[in-house]
Amino acid sequence: MPLPQSFLDELIYRCDIVEVISKYVSLKKSGSRYVGLCPFHSEKTPSFSVSPDKQLYHCFGCGEGGNVITFIMKEENLPFIDAVRLLADMYGMAVPEDSGDTDAERQRRERIFELNKQAARYFHSRLLSKEGERALRYLLNRGLTKKTITSFGLGYAMPEWDGLIRAMKEKGFSDNELESAWLARRGRSGGLYDAFRDRVMFPIIDIRGNVIAFGGRIIEGDGPKYLNSGDTPVFSKSRNLFALNFAKKSKAGRLILAEGYMDVIALHQAGFDCAVASLGTALTSEQARLMSHYAAQAVICYDSDGAGQKAAQKAIDLLKPAGLEVKVLHIPGAKDPDEYIKKNGAEAFALLLDRPQSDSEYMLAVIKSKYDLSADSQKVLYLKEAADYISTIGSPVEREILIGSVSQQAEISSQVMTAEVKRAFTIKARRQKKKEESEALQPLRNVQPKENGLRYKNPRSALCEEKLLILVLQDWELMQKAVSAIDCEEFSSPFLAEIFKKACLMSKNEWNAMPAALLSQLTDAESRHLTRLFSQEIPSKDPEKEIEDYIRIIKEEYAKNNSEGDQRLMDALSRRRERKG
Ligand code: CTP
Ligand code: MN
Repeated sequence: MPLPQSFLDELIYRCDIVEVISKYVSLKKSGSRYVGLCPFHSEKTPSFSVSPDKQLYHCFGCGEGGNVITFIMKEENLPFIDAVRLLADMYGMAVPEDSGDTDAERQRRERIFELNKQAARYFHSRLLSKEGERALRYLLNRGLTKKTITSFGLGYAMPEWDGLIRAMKEKGFSDNELESAWLARRGRSGGLYDAFRDRVMFPIIDIRGNVIAFGGRIIEGDGPKYLNSGDTPVFSKSRNLFALNFAKKSKAGRLILAEGYMDVIALHQAGFDCAVASLGTALTSEQARLMSHYAAQAVICYDSDGAGQKAAQKAIDLLKPAGLEVKVLHIPGAKDPDEYIKKNGAEAFALLLDRPQSDSEYMLAVIKSKYDLSADSQKVLYLKEAADYISTIGSPVEREILIGSVSQQAEISSQVMTAEVKRAFTIKARRQKKKEESEALQPLRNVQPKENGLRYKNPRSALCEEKLLILVLQDWELMQKAVSAIDCEEFSSPFLAEIFKKACLMSKNEWNAMPAALLSQLTDAESRHLTRLFSQEIPSKDPEKEIEDYIRIIKEEYAKNNSEGDQRLMDALSRRRERKG
């Protein structure tokens, strides 16, 4: 049984969406709305808007939108029921008994957590056993202490095809559970085999201390260096970070973002307890946001090769919009932090850490490295590109400092550089304004919904249906009028008709939390589209009159299409008669 609608309505009504979202996004009041940088995509100018009167949010940039529940689901990466629980907790409401369905799901997740925990113990015990000697020697040779090996719970997966499977079956886990946890895989003949064989195992642990996945490193020989668990019901590689379970307790006030498991472990062992890494993929925006919940500053500490530096630039573009102060650490004379610490010791690394470049200094250094400043023509190109970059920096003080250092390097006056930055800024502003104007001039071009799978057959009618919905969803009396004047059958868009129908049903009961409460009855695409409509709404001077107009046009179009249909039928019938006759 799903949660009763009345409970959801009350929850949405009691939650203050501005208060909730403010915990994650810094919002500024702008008219009747609040705006800020969208947490769901990376952007430099705010296009994320929250409407307190409608209790909705919407981003003009990426199209995300919804109510307070969908916000928590996306931001906290929680299933619906857990998002509801979190909000209910926050606002002191008791959640009615859960549905059987989600209980089953939860039980399944609990079983996988338990299985992962048992598997991690098994791998760890193998590492310390006779069979694990080679693996243990490898780790010790790489400079890890026994203590580190234990605290990270490192292990060894044996070369056999079913060592783990047998051990876990003995503990009562099923084939199906092993496969869902990505610990066993199915071969072509349908048989089950261990996913990790003859590898050093790195358990991945979430912030609550659950083992959620594994990375396995080859010791020697052929094959991919690392093998990582795929996504499972308890694991998404784009939403977790290696060692965040430790780093979240750090007092450092920053997180060090390294590239690999081994770097992170070496950093922790050297006393840098705030190191994390992504999980076998490039950093994602979700991981950037996750980091921003635990620290104010991120220090990117990637490998010093080309690939590492490229990845560092991408990471800057994700970490900054997440609200983090970003620094980039250069590791002189070593390929990665692991090697640097081994060569120079922890103190040397601590010194490096205390004077990392800010990301803007770093970006300028990258730009500079592209040009040969001894040639004047190259110098000009460098200054142009640098000016272009500096013009995107929001803080005047920071701009001033950067202008100073660039002009000094290039041996030109800072006035000239300031003028160049202004010019770059004006060009950008002009381009932006043009773009906005051309968008504003073409509302009709945007009639079709942006969401996949939604297309209007009759844009004229659909436009009126949309506007009608926007008005009636905000006013119970107008809703009553509309219900008696028009039937959802007359809508040209089945999808808008569906929304209207659901709203009609809801209007028979409490109407407190509209329109936000309606969203919990809609699909994702439907609610995204609806929140977009609400956020583009232009307040109406005479809603009653407008509604009459909309209803008139919808009915006109309906009659037109249906009589056309009738006409086609008549024609077909008469043709048949002719043939017969
Ligand atoms: N990685 C991966 N698959 C590979 C290679 C790398 O998933 N075939 C991921 C792992 O998460 C690894 C990270 O990318 O930790 C960085 O790669 P690399 O620098 O090669 O690994 P390190 O952790 O530094 O390991 P080592 O020092 O043993 O080379
Ligand atoms: Mn590495």
